[in-house]
Amino acid sequence: MSNNKLYIKTWGCQMNEYDSSKIADLMEKELNCKIIQSVENANIIILNTCSIREKAQEKLFHQLGRWKNLKKSNPNIIICVGGCVAVQEGKRILNRAHYVDIIFGPQTLHRIPVMINKIRKFKKYLIDISFPKIEKFNYFPLAKTKKISEFISIIEGCNKYCTYCIVPHTRGKEISRPYENIIEEIKNLSNQGVKEIHLLGQNVNAYKYIDLKGNICNFTNLLKKIAKIKNIKRIRFTTSHPQNFSDELIQIYKKIPQLVNFVHLPVQSGSDKILSLMKRRYNIIEYKNIIKKLRIIRPNIQISSDFIIGFPGETQDDFYKTISLILNINFDMSFSFIYSPRPGTPASKLNNNISEYEKKQRLYILQYYINQQTKKISQKMLNTIQSVLVEGISPQNKQLFFGRTENNRVVFFQNKNNYIGQLVNIKITTSYLYSLYGQFISINNNLY
Ligand code: 5AD
Ligand code: SF4
Repeated sequence: MSNNKLYIKTWGCQMNEYDSSKIADLMEKELNCKIIQSVENANIIILNTCSIREKAQEKLFHQLGRWKNLKKSNPNIIICVGGCVAVQEGKRILNRAHYVDIIFGPQTLHRIPVMINKIRKFKKYLIDISFPKIEKFNYFPLAKTKKISEFISIIEGCNKYCTYCIVPHTRGKEISRPYENIIEEIKNLSNQGVKEIHLLGQNVNAYKYIDLKGNICNFTNLLKKIAKIKNIKRIRFTTSHPQNFSDELIQIYKKIPQLVNFVHLPVQSGSDKILSLMKRRYNIIEYKNIIKKLRIIRPNIQISSDFIIGFPGETQDDFYKTISLILNINFDMSFSFIYSPRPGTPASKLNNNISEYEKKQRLYILQYYINQQTKKISQKMLNTIQSVLVEGISPQNKQLFFGRTENNRVVFFQNKNNYIGQLVNIKITTSYLYSLYGQFISINNNLY
């Protein structure tokens, strides 16, 4: 029996959560690790970091400082730092936290077990933040799950180089995972009862894989292949980029009913001038056209977005263009952030000319409008019948089942039969901002 007790702390996006779950699977398989929830009892500690916003480095050293004493009282503890801050800071991490043993990147996390074995033998720190070709997926054991909805990474890195963004620098160039590999993983999940697949990547609709015979599989082709997998009732994806939202992809919403009526399509700003400074590669007319075409095919489709407020050069006028876009598109639940200069990015060299007070005011106003729209969309769902994928029993109230609507609202309802894993029709009777209550009407057999 092994004594390896692993504690993993994860910051950041769904991509990082996914990476951490894969690290856990791998460590269980390779080093017989038991995953534990209290860092005090661990002998391997992994911190998977994110540097997209805020003061990522400071946060890292704060966290490491808290673990310093653990290492002091037990020098055999192995501390590993991974993710985007690890790539950004590299060896510099050791200058301020010499007790860190392993520094790894998003593309080398599959090497952690071997690195740990080496550390135990040679007692010297190891750094591997390289970007090997997409090899990590060959190392992960097939996932075991009890969930109804699961994430799956299809593309890593990003080639867009938006001027504010650190991701292309920390996660490397875009590499699409072989579709055979993706399909195999989804079939494995489906065999275990998974009904909803959530495809992940910085830019999923840039997916492009050329197989050994020279056949090109783009994102639309991949969706078609996934839609053929038995028992997959729903397909979601995040994040997509407007530049890659081709007509081919829009048209596929006619053919694949499993694609939910919800798209997260970050616009960032409503001003063409700011979009150009951000190097987003589209203008507002093009963005609106994508939504218009999607709504022709799917009139009830909901759109969510990410917004950056206070980008250098953003005037009141630019800001109100963003508000006007919000009112025009009627976005559902969205994310908004104050611009944060990231080290080494082109935008970090621009004159950051807007006061903190002004940025906070703008964020407040923007979030007000988004929340109003989210509330209205939830209220409009009252008395309608929604297709809900039942995911389980509510942890708060064991009398209730819960599931999600296509636009990601959690719905609670009561029933004497267990419909977990099935699509059901629920009549919405109560509406809150993000969650709904409803009444079971019938099983939804329409589409699948
Ligand atoms: N400052 C603020 N927000 C950022 N994002 C990415 N980089 C930055 C930055 N430097 C936001 C974008 C992106 C989301 C994942 O994070 O809105 O879509
Ligand atoms: Fe960053 Fe732009 Fe790539 Fe998104 S598309 S990950 S914002 S560089």
